[in-house]
Amino acid sequence: MKTVFDKTRIRSMSLKNRFIRAAVAEKTADGQVHEDMVHLYTRLAQGGAGTLITGFTLVDEAEQAFPLLACYHDSFCQGHKTLTQAVHEHDTNIILQLVYVGSYVMGDARGMTILAPSAVEHVTSKVLPQEISIAQIKHIQNKFAQAALRAKQAGYDGIEIHGAHGFLLSQFMTPYYNRRTDGYGGSVQNRARMLVETYETIREAVGDDFPVLIKINVTDGFEEGVSFEDVLYLCRVLTGKGIDAIETSGPWQRFSPEASSFYKQEAARIAAENDTNIIMTGGNKDVHEMTAILHTTSIAYFGMARALMREPGLIARFAPHEL
Ligand SMILES: Cc1cc2nc3c(=O)[nH]c(=O)nc-3n(C[C@H](O)[C@H](O)[C@H](O)COP(=O)(O)O)c2cc1C
Repeated sequence: MKTVFDKTRIRSMSLKNRFIRAAVAEKTADGQVHEDMVHLYTRLAQGGAGTLITGFTLVDEAEQAFPLLACYHDSFCQGHKTLTQAVHEHDTNIILQLVYVGSYVMGDARGMTILAPSAVEHVTSKVLPQEISIAQIKHIQNKFAQAALRAKQAGYDGIEIHGAHGFLLSQFMTPYYNRRTDGYGGSVQNRARMLVETYETIREAVGDDFPVLIKINVTDGFEEGVSFEDVLYLCRVLTGKGIDAIETSGPWQRFSPEASSFYKQEAARIAAENDTNIIMTGGNKDVHEMTAILHTTSIAYFGMARALMREPGLIARFAPHEL
């Protein structure tokens, strides 16, 4: 019988349990890892989650005005090494989440060129971006690959592509944001291309052994958002190309703090149809409910953000003797 404390593997990475700290963004004015972040991640590692996913990390210096963690230059590597070493001391994995923000805009965008699949206002930030060119698409894919390679060299156990929540990559899947008529727009095959090519470019750079994960929306939560059929298509293609795990998410802000495991139906369907590791994120906090989901679906892992923000030692409280 499976348990949430099973020891498992995702490619080269051993996981001591099925709990994963889902990404929570770090504010850092200069993009560097600072001591307070190392302390927080040490606390989370001591708290028992087997794997930690960092907050989103910039891959392109074009977005350096945003006060987020960065990995677009070698000068960021020493800080990342300090972080990975601190977490590894507690027998815990750490995954770097990579992002291109685009028109969601996380800070002061004055003077910046803001890119999106099409020149359509962002539903949340209300920013009107420029349509990205094919040359810029290729440039950003390469930036993801270079950042992923730096992450590998800095000791991360894997990387996660941020393909969710209305940031640039997820916008390609979303008909509202993607009105292109070239090879990156229109049919689902074309709208999925940016995510699939970004994965392939990263894989080429980091090699076959290094875990590459992706976080996706199972819904955008608005009318011209991605359809679930299109999400299933994307998952099939990524699984076929060897993605190591798919983390399911969506507009989590819509749910009340009491709502629990709120994307379980969508995640269960994706898990049933795809022979890859599914990390279900969104409202996980009840160990009995997670255990029941583990027993009745093919979902393998449970991402938790806010529950671990409230209580970094929560996993140890679930079952202290297991850690
Ligand atoms: C303060 C905060 C920061 C977040 N930052 C990120 C992020 O950097 N990348 C990401 O993919 N999701 C981010 N999320 C979303 C979480 O990873 C997660 O998908 C969402 O909170 C739902 O899970 P939960 O119910 O366990 O909190 C953030 C959430 C919160 C509350």
